Amino acid sequence: MGLSEVTVAEAEAALKVAPIVSVQNLYNLAQRNAEALLDWATDRNIGFIPWFPLATGGLTGENSPLTTLAAARGASPAQLALAWLLKRSPVVLPIPGTSSVAHLEDNLRAASIELSDSEFDALSQAIR
Ligand SMILES: NC(=O)c1ccc[n+]([C@@H]2O[C@H](COP(=O)([O-])OP(=O)(O)OC[C@H]3O[C@@H](n4cnc5c(N)ncnc54)[C@H](OP(=O)(O)O)[C@@H]3O)[C@@H](O)[C@H]2O)c1
Repeated sequence: MGLSEVTVAEAEAALKVAPIVSVQNLYNLAQRNAEALLDWATDRNIGFIPWFPLATGGLTGENSPLTTLAAARGASPAQLALAWLLKRSPVVLPIPGTSSVAHLEDNLRAASIELSDSEFDALSQAIR
């Protein structure tokens, strides 16, 4: 089964009933309350789907807090936000929403951006 917005305790209880394929909680660079669940899913190789991966657009565009780091990396802020999620754990499966084909293509290119550990740390500290 797939679960949405659960705590670690709820996921543990559910795991006693049936196998879990994925969990889906709010998670992005600016909203990291689900860290414990993400670590729990990573340890069990269970997919973790971070919803609002772009903070509903707050991490994208000209007013993004990531614009300086994005310019230095030659990427868009949205790409860096998604690349950060992909580096955070191998079980992360971001589902960014968009109404624009250009943004869809921009977001897809995030999959080919490999952040170094220091870039990951700089992004983690850019928003707190
Ligand atoms: N499980 C749950 O309880 C739950 C709750 C809420 C949402 N969700 C799911 O989470 C997913 C994402 O939610 P969301 O779409 O609301 O939030 P999001 O992915 O965090 O952000 C989408 C916003 O970012 C903008 N955007 C996307 N790519 C961009 C880019 N490359 N450059 C600039 N702006 C960009 C979009 O504008 P444009 O349209 O202009 O690109 C849109 O305003 C959806 O699939 C939704 O179903 C799940």
